[in-house]
Amino acid sequence: MKYDVVVIGSGPGGYVGAIRCAQLGLKTAIVEKYNTLGGTCLNVGCIPSKALLDSSEHFHNAAHNFAKHGIEIDSPKVNMEQMIARKNAVVKQTCDGVQYLMDKNKIDVHTGLGSFVDKNTIKVVDSEGKETLLETKNTIIATGSKPNYFPGMEPDKDRIVTSTEMLNLEKVAENLIVIGGGVIGLELGSVHARLGAKVNVLEFADSILPAMDKAVSKELTKVLKKEGFKFNMNHKVQNVENTGSGVKVTALNKKDEEVVFEGDYCLVAVGRKPFTEGLGLENAGVKMGERGMIDVNDHLETNVPGIYAIGDVIKGAMLAHKAEEEGVFVAELLAGQKPHINYNLIPGVVYTWPEAAAVGKTEEELKAAGVNYKAGSFPVKALGRARASMDIMGMVKILADAETDEVLGVHMVSARAADMIMEAVTAMEYRASAEDMARICHPHPTYTEATKEAALAATSDRAIHI
Ligand code: FAD
Ligand code: NAI
Repeated sequence: MKYDVVVIGSGPGGYVGAIRCAQLGLKTAIVEKYNTLGGTCLNVGCIPSKALLDSSEHFHNAAHNFAKHGIEIDSPKVNMEQMIARKNAVVKQTCDGVQYLMDKNKIDVHTGLGSFVDKNTIKVVDSEGKETLLETKNTIIATGSKPNYFPGMEPDKDRIVTSTEMLNLEKVAENLIVIGGGVIGLELGSVHARLGAKVNVLEFADSILPAMDKAVSKELTKVLKKEGFKFNMNHKVQNVENTGSGVKVTALNKKDEEVVFEGDYCLVAVGRKPFTEGLGLENAGVKMGERGMIDVNDHLETNVPGIYAIGDVIKGAMLAHKAEEEGVFVAELLAGQKPHINYNLIPGVVYTWPEAAAVGKTEEELKAAGVNYKAGSFPVKALGRARASMDIMGMVKILADAETDEVLGVHMVSARAADMIMEAVTAMEYRASAEDMARICHPHPTYTEATKEAALAATSDRAIHI
């Protein structure tokens, strides 16, 4: 079988890249070791976590907010089996959709482990050991990532779990210990907190979401404490033990004292690592970079001409939309176009409620780089829309260049921030000033008015409603 392009891995990087290759007239195949397409994102990442976040938020509202809205119901009960079954149905529908897109675009799907025989030959071995050889001019490696962990916190997939097992837990944790106050810890911790669990987060850094703007970490800490989270910052986990009926986690606090935490489950969420096992990179002469990543140049090409790598397996944010952009980038490059990705404008979202979202530079980054900036903030509680829905927590903060007024970063915690952030991404892509954003008419009443007000505050301290 001869191809212009073989894509290894069917996550958002791989399958989107394959579709763009096919659209551009390249004969394309995709290789996936699992029976379902879609990778981490569709099977055990973005989609199932959002399905459970939505279900748990409905429960939380029914239990805590309906009465205030004048809706009286008997106390709602959680049916975890049904919640997981609905999540699985959403995942199946989404993964089936990728298979449909492969068929529609006439992309050959080869199920099995893909590995390099040499630079232009990919071997696919299916679950019964049957081998197929694919001859290809170009290969895109899109093999993604796997959960990371450190010595002493090895997941046993029973009580010491990663996000993958946590997404299938058919009971509500009573006392969940989360190692890592990053995105996974806060999102999956939120699912169980809303369903009634006590959630105890042990974080190595001095704040949650240490890479985000400190204003976001601070606001979200307040929000999540109200939801039943306890945060233990500056805690370095030494050991996790499955005691049979629960878990015992030992950590060193800021003063280097040993502290013990007990719970029924421990979620290990300390980042993810690139996945290249079994790829046979050495057979093609592909060089690895630091920390298990595949090294690529500005064209996302490895040291071997014709072999490219995208998504979680290379440097940069481990996000589905970043992987997708890179898939499209390589496809267009192969078709002779001149694509471009603006890595400064990859938005990040944390799907707590309210949500947190950001794009561009944080205040800490601007300070460290010695940039002369100004900042404007606006609290969500001052919005009529927020009071109408009772989602009053949060703020929008805009950072702009002190001289030119160009927007350099937008950071928010707000209901619907995941969607609101796109206004900032668009504005920044067109290098808008804070005044440009402030002068655009925003619909009333919406949460987006907080962005307008923050822009007014940033441009010349003239927010209207505060
Ligand atoms: P992956 O999606 O990891 O796909 C790689 C695929 O390659 C896998 O299917 C794997 O089986 C296959 N593969 C690997 N090796 C081989 C081989 N040798 N042969 C054949 N196939 C192979 N990101 C967001 O942007 N938004 C979110 O809301 C979000 N939520 C997340 C929630 C969780 C719980 C997790 C774990 C992640 C989340 N992410 C989210 C991150 C997102 O899932 C990843 O950034 C994204 O999936 C990376 O895409 P990818 O194409 O690089 O790789
Ligand atoms: P993360 O990098 O977001 O957070 C890991 C956290 O663990 C950090 O705060 C870090 O300081 C802490 N940590 C590291 N070692 C520790 C230790 N020994 N003890 C205590 N704390 C420790 O990684 P996470 O949450 O595992 O997510 C992995 C990736 O998946 C992220 O890169 C993220 O981009 C992606 N993801 C994205 C989502 C989204 O876009 N909404 C949702 C979920 C995951």
